[in-house]
Amino acid sequence: MKEITISEVGNYDTELVTIKGWLYNQRSSGKVKFMIIRDGTGFLQGILVKSEIEEKYFNLLDGLNHESSIIVGGIIKKEQRAPSGYEMLVKTIEVVQNAEPDYPISLKKHGVAFLMNYRHLWIRTERQNAILRIRTEVVKTIHQFLQKKGFFLIESPILTPAACEGTTTLFETDYFGDKAYLTQSGQLYNEAAAMAFGKVYCFGPTFRAEKSKTRRHLMEFWMAEPEAAYFDFQDNNHLQEEMIVEIFSHVLHHCSLELKILERDISALEKIKSPFPYLSYDDAVKLIQKEGSTTQWGDDLTGEDETIISKYYDKPVFVHHFPTKCKAFYMKPDPVNPETVLGADLIAPEGFGEIIGGGERIDDYQLIKERIREHKLPEKDYQWYIDLRKFGSVPHSGFGLGVERTVAWICNLSHIRETIPFPRMLNKIYP
Ligand code: 4AD
Ligand code: MG
Repeated sequence: MKEITISEVGNYDTELVTIKGWLYNQRSSGKVKFMIIRDGTGFLQGILVKSEIEEKYFNLLDGLNHESSIIVGGIIKKEQRAPSGYEMLVKTIEVVQNAEPDYPISLKKHGVAFLMNYRHLWIRTERQNAILRIRTEVVKTIHQFLQKKGFFLIESPILTPAACEGTTTLFETDYFGDKAYLTQSGQLYNEAAAMAFGKVYCFGPTFRAEKSKTRRHLMEFWMAEPEAAYFDFQDNNHLQEEMIVEIFSHVLHHCSLELKILERDISALEKIKSPFPYLSYDDAVKLIQKEGSTTQWGDDLTGEDETIISKYYDKPVFVHHFPTKCKAFYMKPDPVNPETVLGADLIAPEGFGEIIGGGERIDDYQLIKERIREHKLPEKDYQWYIDLRKFGSVPHSGFGLGVERTVAWICNLSHIRETIPFPRMLNKIYP
């Protein structure tokens, strides 16, 4: 018998095959029994018909507990009502392990707090599986897209001597008697790499000790960060737009089953096409104030402000030209109005808020030194970064896309904790 995966069943209609997996669920109606097998690539209904299977196998199912590991043999049949379009007429069952009977997750509703304590098992369920499968496709598309565009993958370090995104959210660790921090962003190293390779990106875990409990914040999250030399503010926005459009088109083409499991409104995803709208920070402040926000010109936007903006659009919107004083030290002031920077946040629609932050970087030697001083950052730790402005400085730009927020938006999840296999949240690091 040919061994296949559930994702391949479409190629084996009417054939006798085996599938290695786990018993997800079962029910019986006398002479016919139904089982759901999962194998990591999908979920498949198996049917045991008393007259078409050896009695020992027919009887075996009753004694098997939820999540038992099994190898099932049978004939693949088309079944229009099945989510995958197929089911299996089961002929044999080999038990690898009959699971203990006290499997904590039943298929009835549990609260998220309970499920998070069993995250190591929860990821076996259909919805969680679908979300993480979409995440993988998003990650894959980002790599493919950037590499096709000539961006060079560069790994930035995780242990760093200095901050990138302000000193208040650093995770500190001991580095042989010195202080080191888990990276908040690979950007500063990307800038060095862009001067060596032209177009680069890093893609890795980043860390923020955010002492707030919100539906958009994790302590550890993944960021895709492209950075390019001879690349201006507009080039940077165009790249973001193209990348987002590509991610959505890929997910729509390759994840229809997952989106169906998640009951995602596909029409909302189909709207994510070029061109994306622009909203100046000035106009954004007017808009949110009209909606009751207390944010004043000069403040960074809050999560609630982003939600308000987010609901005005059905495409991502570039909020641009933030005040210099509310953004990171490296942002380049607009020569036309130096009170504002050539930076933008890309705000996703449907209330999902910021998914990308980026912009053009300061390339002037004197100015970067001034900003490092103004932000009270230790100049000696940034000497290598300052050097980049001394030796062949050029206009350059980049951005960071948060993977988890993007996946939450695609999957329409109210909280980003389900978009990463093992979320790291405020005061919670188990499992
Ligand atoms: O806006 P941020 O802080 O920008 C940077 O770190 C830049 N250095 C990136 C760059 O230009 N290379 O973060 C970028 C994105 C946000 O838009 C958001 O999607 C995500 O990273 N992000 C978080 N996601 C989950 N949990 C958190 N605590 C996050 N903080 C930022
Ligand atoms: Mg930001």
